[in-house]
Amino acid sequence: MKTTNESPHLAALLLFATGILAGFFALATAVKAQETGSERLFQQRCGSCHSLQIGQNGIGPHLAGVIGRAAGSIEGTRYSDAMRDSGIVWDNRSLDTFLAAPHEVVPGTRMTVTVPDDTQRAAIIDYLENQ
Ligand code: HEC
Repeated sequence: MKTTNESPHLAALLLFATGILAGFFALATAVKAQETGSERLFQQRCGSCHSLQIGQNGIGPHLAGVIGRAAGSIEGTRYSDAMRDSGIVWDNRSLDTFLAAPHEVVPGTRMTVTVPDDTQRAAIIDYLENQ
């Protein structure tokens, strides 16, 4: 008779454990989705011209370690004079204003792409910062 008394407890315990596991999986998936979201955003909006590999310069310079870097400083990139002479050192703030309106921050820049959406800019800058 003892076994029939125990099995409901066991079932409840199993259900409880499954619930906890499911919770962890849901959390892990959400975090993953967020990461790939900003990565995809970067690839879609910037990836055709910018790489994150040092030395890989395409239409634009590579953006590995761009935060803290002097604007127009990557050898082998065809910068505009405007960018070379801008005197900017890239940080979150200057990147944010540049991506919102490149021509207002660096008049004469060759980069014409803008990211008007605040949230998308923040996600891209965050992604660049964590590379
Ligand atoms: C169509 C090509 C193109 C796309 C897309 C593009 N850029 Fe650029 N980017 C350039 C070019 C060209 C330059 C050099 C501009 C200059 O010299 O005036 C540049 C310069 C930059 C710089 C300055 C780098 C330095 O070394 O001073 C940053 C930062 C930058 N881009 C970020 C981005 C980000 C972030 C995105 C995506 C939202 C993006 N760019 C999308 C072409 C592009």
